[in-house]
Amino acid sequence: MEDSRIGLPIGTALDRFIKRFQDDFPYATGELSQLLRDIALAGKVVNREVNKAGLINLSGSIGSENIQGEDQQKLDVLANIRFIRAFTKGGEACAIISEEDEKVVDLHNNGKYIIAIDPLDGSSNIDVNVSIGTIFSIYRRLSPVGSPVSEEDVLQPGINQVASGYLLYGSSTILVYTTGKGVNAFTYEPTLGEYFLSHHDLRIPDDGKIYSVNEASAHSFNEPVNQYLEYCKKNRHTARYIGSLVADFHRNLLKGGIYLYPSTDQNPQGKLRLMYECNALAFVVEQAGGKASTGTERILEIKPKSLHQRCPLYIGSKKMVDRATSYY
Ligand code: AHG
Ligand code: MN
Ligand code: MN
Repeated sequence: MEDSRIGLPIGTALDRFIKRFQDDFPYATGELSQLLRDIALAGKVVNREVNKAGLINLSGSIGSENIQGEDQQKLDVLANIRFIRAFTKGGEACAIISEEDEKVVDLHNNGKYIIAIDPLDGSSNIDVNVSIGTIFSIYRRLSPVGSPVSEEDVLQPGINQVASGYLLYGSSTILVYTTGKGVNAFTYEPTLGEYFLSHHDLRIPDDGKIYSVNEASAHSFNEPVNQYLEYCKKNRHTARYIGSLVADFHRNLLKGGIYLYPSTDQNPQGKLRLMYECNALAFVVEQAGGKASTGTERILEIKPKSLHQRCPLYIGSKKMVDRATSYY
């Protein structure tokens, strides 16, 4: 299938695609391209490890907790190492914010970019062969290159992202990303070791019927959330919840739907992390024509106060997010 607008067929290799669109990137120096290549490569390595998880003692807990007090799985730690190593080599990145590291990981002061990453999303699904993923955001630093990274560099609102996306290790492995000019997805072909363009200029359906939420917490959702869930049921929507944000999000992106993680009694600010879960997917969904909100505020406009800050999330098809937030 030839795409007439860009002259690149579905099946174009990721590298060729990146090269072809390099000049469209903000600042276009080739460094952002290199970061995307690094992510793609680390994704291949993690994909290989995910695929072997049951065989080589990669399943299970490592016996430690991360900064959020969550049990760290071996693959969480391994994926974190793989991605940090990939960003360390090239020199394009000056700092990394990771779910698995309490503090900012400082790299080269000469790097221009800051990465926020959830190296392994959906940890509870590793041991049971259910889809998991990696979520990433890329920012350009605000302080001069060569100086130490400042707090202002690190705590930028999502609106400043120059690229974001995710890898989904599912029935096939797919890399989905945006650089602010629409969303493209590349499916990994393991026998060739290459990603190929499989979805060009992805658009999320304006409306949908799928709602994804952990309804076991409904007793502690606030009234507007429960009113919206009532609406979904009365209007014959379909409930789908995998428990890996990246997998639930991807399905809704393709089919139309909404994902909700509201505040609960256990997680009064919501469970999901602004800097390496919500912002990245909010940028992708907006670039695909959808919306992302806390219920009362556009996700991308939140000015972060801390690295591991949480926020409620309503994300997906435009009309569904509008309806869900209209109950506030
Ligand atoms: P992580 O594995 O990176 O800690 O993220 C888990 C998140 C997200 O992926 C998922 O949607 C959500 O936690 C599920 O939470 P519940 O089990 O509370 O529904
Ligand atoms: Mn996560
Ligand atoms: Mn994680």
